[in-house]
Order: sequence, then C-alpha cells, then structure tokens
Amino acid sequence: MGEKWVLMKTAQTPTNIAVIKYWGKRDESLILPVNDSISVTLDPSHLCTTTTVAVSPAFHQDRMWLNGKEISLSGGRYQNCLRELRRRACEVEDKEKGIKIEKKDWEKLHLHIASYNNFPTAAGLASSAAGFACLVFALAKLMNVKEDDSQLSAIARQGSGSACRSLFGGFVKWIMGKEEDGSDSVAVQLVDEKHWDDLFIVIAVVSSRQKETSSTSGMRETVQTSLLLQHRAKEVVPKRTLQMEEAIKHRDFASFAQLTCADSNQFHAVCLDTSPPIFYMNDTSHKIISCVEKWNRSEGSPQVAYTFDAGPNAVLIARNRKAAAQLLQRLLFHFPPNSDSDLDSYVIGDKSILKDAGLEGLKDVEALCPPPEIKENAAAQKYPGDVSYFICTRPGRGPVLLSQQDLALLDPETGLPK
Ligand code: DP6
Repeated sequence: MGEKWVLMKTAQTPTNIAVIKYWGKRDESLILPVNDSISVTLDPSHLCTTTTVAVSPAFHQDRMWLNGKEISLSGGRYQNCLRELRRRACEVEDKEKGIKIEKKDWEKLHLHIASYNNFPTAAGLASSAAGFACLVFALAKLMNVKEDDSQLSAIARQGSGSACRSLFGGFVKWIMGKEEDGSDSVAVQLVDEKHWDDLFIVIAVVSSRQKETSSTSGMRETVQTSLLLQHRAKEVVPKRTLQMEEAIKHRDFASFAQLTCADSNQFHAVCLDTSPPIFYMNDTSHKIISCVEKWNRSEGSPQVAYTFDAGPNAVLIARNRKAAAQLLQRLLFHFPPNSDSDLDSYVIGDKSILKDAGLEGLKDVEALCPPPEIKENAAAQKYPGDVSYFICTRPGRGPVLLSQQDLALLDPETGLPK
C-alpha cells in the first residue's frame, strides 16, 4: 500500500421532528427506548448536516471537526458507532487510484471526519440527530458496509436515539424492539416524502436565555422519578402509535394534528411530572399554542399541528400551503421581528410562502391586521423579539451521498479541513 493516498466520501443527512415522542431509555449505553416513536423528516435544503469522512494510511489517529472546530471522539457514543462500523467494514478497491483496503485493514486505519450543520447548532434544532445519522451513513459508504439502512439506523441509534430516524425520508417509525442486545431496535420508513406532499412546516425559533436540561439527562431523571412516564409508555403510546400510522397512511390531517398535539403536550406533562420538574416550553411557546388552538377551533377543523422538543422552539405542521400562509400571517402579527431585523432575514428557508401570504416585500409588519378569530383586544397582543426567526420548510428526503468534490469538507490531498 502506498502511504500517500486519501479516500473520501461526503454525505448529507436531514434532521427529523418526532410527532410521537421518544422520551426515556430502558438501556442507557445501547440507547434502547421505553416506547416506539414516529417522526417526520425535514427537507435537507433548509436543515441538514453535511459530513465528509476520509481514510488514509498517513493519519495517526481518529479525528473529528464539527463546524470547523476540532472535537474529541473519546466519548462512548462516538466510540460505539466507530466500533460497530469497523466490525462491519468490507474490502474496498479503487482501481483508478490504485488503492486496495482489505477487511482486516480497517482495524488499523485511522479516520478523519468533518461535519457541518446548515443551521445554528445553538438554535436547539436536533443537530445530534442529523449529525450521528450522517456520520454513520457516510462511514458506512466509505467502509463498504453491506447492511441496509434499518441496520445502519441501529448503529446511529447508539450515537443519539433520535438519530436512527434520520436514516430515512418521509415518515419514520423507530420500533423500540424487545431484544436485550438492541438488534431489533431499528427505524423503518412508514411512507416516503412524496406520500403526503401537501404538508408545510413552519419552525419558530424562540428566543431563550436559559440553557435547557439536555435530553439525555432530562430523560434519565424522568425514568427515575415519573410515574406518568410508565403510564405513557405502557398504555398511551402503543395505541397512539397505531392511530398515528393510520392517520399518516390515509393523510387524515384532523387525526394527525390531534395526535401530534396531544403527544407533544403529554411529553411536556411527563417533564413536569419529573422531580425536580423540567420546563422546556416558555411563555412564548405557550402563546404559540394558544394562537394555534384558537385558530383551529374557529375553523372547525385543525389547520395546523404543533409539537415541541426539549426546548421552547415550536414546530408547526400545516395541512397545506394555504394554511401555512394563513399561519404565517398570524405568527407575524403576534410575533413581529425586533425593529432592527427585516422580513427577509426573519423568515428563512422556503420563502415562497411569504408570497402566498401576500407578505412578500412587506415593509411594515406592524401594519398587519389582527386575525379574525380574535374578538377581544386583550388577545390581539404583540410580542416583538419573542421569536428569533421562522424557518419555512417541508417533509424531506433521507440521506444522500454527494459526488461533487467541491462540496467535500476535507482536502482530498491532506485529509484535513479545507
Ligand atoms: C424530545 O435523541 O437527543 O427530541 O438518545 O440521549 O441522545 P439521546 O436523546 P435525543 O432525544 C430526543 C428527545 C426528543 C424527542 C424525539 O426526538 O423523539
């Protein structure tokens, strides 16, 4: 083997948002959950992780860079993913470059990994889900791992539970499994992203000063102290998962919205039932729920579903473009930008929805009329600055390999960040 070569692969992987939440582990190190969960994958054009992985006999140790900064790979979760992948690595040959890696070589060869999120990590938008899914997907391609995507999801799961659901597009179910070794705790695709392509998603990135409890330690405390979690895992989620699968299959938005909101609310109730209680939603989150509930009720049938993860950001799923445009009008009325930011940087992602809402080029958000369902003045309040920005997006596809060299994050000669 020549000592000079560097072999690389680059992948792009989406993030996902759960509509039936994963909260609580029955095995901490294998990351096995106490219940099934279901998620929708978000369009990677707006929220994704890109990861380049490289192997070379010239590398002296495994190294990783996240958003340009070197981070440690010594944590158990990284080590578990790397060990599982090396175990499954196969022979790789690149005749053009004159490279041949035998199966046994993977134990000795070192890896370089560079990862980049196209959204702020600090915004609390499930960056670990896309991150671990992308690391596992890209390394599996580099190492010629023959396993299918569900088997890969069981490896990504050992990096971060929610990561296993980012191996697929559309709607995805993480089956909790029964085996002690976690072999049957895998993600499967329920339907692809084209099945229900009316749906539109608006994410309100809510300003927050406080540092939230991490999901990992939050769910550990819930498992140790909440009786409500046991009831949820045993009695509620099994039935709700079946109903959710039916709602998705039949594109039944009324049921989908009812189940999604109920499950988000129960997840946050379980957090409150933890000792000491965990508060992820804040006043702004509650105001967004009230606004959506009021509008849904006035329409007589749900137009929008809301769901919140381990932080105050709202993920709002609208039944179609028209509902999303009407939602955005309402959100911008109650949550206008601070005077120093313009609409162009306040509403990002798929901005075409601004045009539908008749808001394109609007200079003065203050001029928006209150939504018709608001009867009393007290309910027409405005909270400028409560929301940092909105991201407009849609359900999206699963991981892909990127073939263009210029999108790689590592230099093809040195294997170091560009
Ligand atoms: C509230 O997957 O971040 O987003 O497995 O400990 O890494 P670890 O936790 P993580 O938890 C996600 C919790 C959630 C709900 C969900 O995505 O299902």
